[in-house]
Amino acid sequence: MPLLIKNGRIITADADYHADIYCASEQITRIEETIDAGSLPDDTEVIDACGKYVFPGFIDPHVHVHLPFMGTSAKDDHESASRAAIVGGTTTYIEMICPAPDQEPMSAFNEWQGKAQGQSSCDYSFHLGVVRFDDIARDQIRTIVRDYGIASFKVFLAYKGALNISDENLFDLLTIGKELGVITTAHCENATAIAAMQHKLLKEGKTGPEWHEPSRPVRVEAEGVHHLATFAELTGAHVYAVHTSCAAAINEARAAQARGVKLWVESVIPHFALDKTHAEQDNFEGAKYVMSPPLRDRENHDALWAALYSGVISTIGTDHAPFDFKGQKDMGKDNFTLIPNGIPSIQERVDLLYNLGVRTGRIDLNTFVRVASTNAAQIFGLTNKGTIAVGADADLVIYDPDHEHRISVTTQESRVDYNAFEGWDLTGRAEVVTVRGSIMARAGRFVGEPGRGMHIKRQPNHF
Ligand code: URP
Ligand code: ZN
Ligand code: ZN
Repeated sequence: MPLLIKNGRIITADADYHADIYCASEQITRIEETIDAGSLPDDTEVIDACGKYVFPGFIDPHVHVHLPFMGTSAKDDHESASRAAIVGGTTTYIEMICPAPDQEPMSAFNEWQGKAQGQSSCDYSFHLGVVRFDDIARDQIRTIVRDYGIASFKVFLAYKGALNISDENLFDLLTIGKELGVITTAHCENATAIAAMQHKLLKEGKTGPEWHEPSRPVRVEAEGVHHLATFAELTGAHVYAVHTSCAAAINEARAAQARGVKLWVESVIPHFALDKTHAEQDNFEGAKYVMSPPLRDRENHDALWAALYSGVISTIGTDHAPFDFKGQKDMGKDNFTLIPNGIPSIQERVDLLYNLGVRTGRIDLNTFVRVASTNAAQIFGLTNKGTIAVGADADLVIYDPDHEHRISVTTQESRVDYNAFEGWDLTGRAEVVTVRGSIMARAGRFVGEPGRGMHIKRQPNHF
């Protein structure tokens, strides 16, 4: 059904103006000062956005939905994760394919694609996780890039003995990435140092979730970013450090960017909203706040905001990785290294960033859109997403900056049994969310056609 959005304040990465937007056949087809509803087809739905912002649909560049990990499997599927995303204003997400160590890349791609197809209500793409690396894998990686619309890889410098990639393979993969114009995203923490630190702490009887952060301190992450940047410099590959958490890692990234390394930096909303003390709570409550890299000392927050504002950090995602408190996180009751890592936030990301960033004056509205949508579209080749322009996909968020609400596990769409932001009072909410012109959420409720999301094929753009 055609859609006319009238009287909204349109915010993109570089513009701020009032206009009407007309959408037909899944795209934005007109943006004009005034569009007369009487001149449009009879079945056009008209929405008055007076007093509201109109943002491009937000993009989450880092989510886990299907995630067999640390002896268990994440709680969401694409049905629940995409509903949560949409209600929170996210219209496209990029999921990490995390293959088993011996799994062929094609089999992993088919497995992850099979879980999303017909289930996701928002549009989606994948970063191809590379764990196995031999001649078969090399061939299949090339095929997946060429024929299946995947334009980014994912590697883990962490998780020794599970997802971790060796230096030899990292060098080879980056060389292939350079040749194909594919960007490589990386979890940057030194796996060997973490394993040694974990061993030492456990031997000392330090088993609770509060020891997760000391087992992977900021230098471990800074070394990871430095490591990735060095390999990118040597190969000429374009790389992207995911979920960057602290000043030490940011400093390494800034130095690499300054010497011309093609390095982009992501952070994720838990690292702006939460800190190390959350993982230090009694009665094993801290386990809800175990993710990697870990939540840090609050002093790091200023460095993150400054890096966001200055452009050292390009994107804010979630690293949504939903594991229940009961039955999953408690697998690590006597040993913090067995707590499945992850803090779910796919529904809360946009509102948290709006509250902590825009409402406090730390970032302006254009930066907000840039880091939560536009930059991800540009870096990852989502060419019709991330902006409001004629010809772009009609992925739009009509945002009420004054709506007040309280976060609660009882109203979340994710299937996980807790909410890390329980009881937080926020101002601002997505009132209407469209994905390719279809209204998918209204007033905080999912109202769309389930499973309507499309796999968005991407072309390599990092030559
Ligand atoms: O804690 C995290 N980040 N969990 C998900 C796996 C990963 O490292 O991205
Ligand atoms: Zn990670
Ligand atoms: Zn992740």
